[in-house]
Amino acid sequence: MNDTRREVVRALADGPVGGPELADRIGVSRAAVWKHVEALREAGFDVESDGGYRLAGVPEYGGAAVEYGLDAPYEVEYHDAVDSTNDRARELADEGADGVVVLADEQTHSKGRLDREWTSPSGGVWASVVVRPALSPAGVPVVTLAAAVATTRALREAGVDAGIKWPNDVLARDDGRKLAGILTEMEGEADRVNWVVVGVGVNVNVDAADLPATATSVRERVGDVERRAFVQRLLEAFHDLLGDSDAVLDAWREAALTLGERVRVETPGGELVGEAVDVEPPGTLVVATDDGERRVHAGDCEHLRPE
Ligand code: BTN
Repeated sequence: MNDTRREVVRALADGPVGGPELADRIGVSRAAVWKHVEALREAGFDVESDGGYRLAGVPEYGGAAVEYGLDAPYEVEYHDAVDSTNDRARELADEGADGVVVLADEQTHSKGRLDREWTSPSGGVWASVVVRPALSPAGVPVVTLAAAVATTRALREAGVDAGIKWPNDVLARDDGRKLAGILTEMEGEADRVNWVVVGVGVNVNVDAADLPATATSVRERVGDVERRAFVQRLLEAFHDLLGDSDAVLDAWREAALTLGERVRVETPGGELVGEAVDVEPPGTLVVATDDGERRVHAGDCEHLRPE
């Protein structure tokens, strides 16, 4: 939604407002006002025009719907179906985008971490955010942790008891089934990130039967929720956390399921077993092993039963 369209929506929300008055107020022609109103109607907004324009309803979901009332500076590009929101976001990033969210109802070729498959049926929240943080590539894990914290917050606000397994799997606290995953991709030079695409997949209004057995959904836990509000809370929390690494780490520790657990971590350098005792900037897991503390920057973590 461009700035003028946003001003029009705001004025309609405070309406009724006459076409000529609105045209004067935002400095466009009456024909342009009419075009904006028609475009909003096409996007699903209910605009009444009895005695002036008035916003009577917002669409349930979609780009304009998520942007409307969103307290974060993101533009949203919505698709009913797309191969992968991350792939589309990467294209936009290559074209210079910043602060753009690609959102889809369904993905046909979605990607998980470590080349794993990810299932993205209609009804989920499949979103990829393009950001250009002032970080070196080594600092990027904190962006992923911020997304995991933001996702956990949105799930908890929706009534789902969720927590984070290091580094960024969001699980149901009671049985450890997966509610959400995050795939971060980036481009940069040795000392400077050019862009980061943070892809977040949340099993929201989907049947657990349509997901792998190790996954669960919001629908299974608490019933369907309004995806528009869910995505807005997630994006707002993510934006608030970005740029404050200490706040991200504190919030991550508070939401963590891994700290205090006995874990096995598959790292590029081999396997490590011990107790997860802390997470340090930019997202390094500290594991107390029989041979002393070890720091893990990347890997796959499994929670083990206590010995
Ligand atoms: C994982 O846990 O393996 C990460 C899953 C990430 C899935 C999301 S859904 C939105 C975005 N688009 C993709 O193709 N993948 C990510």
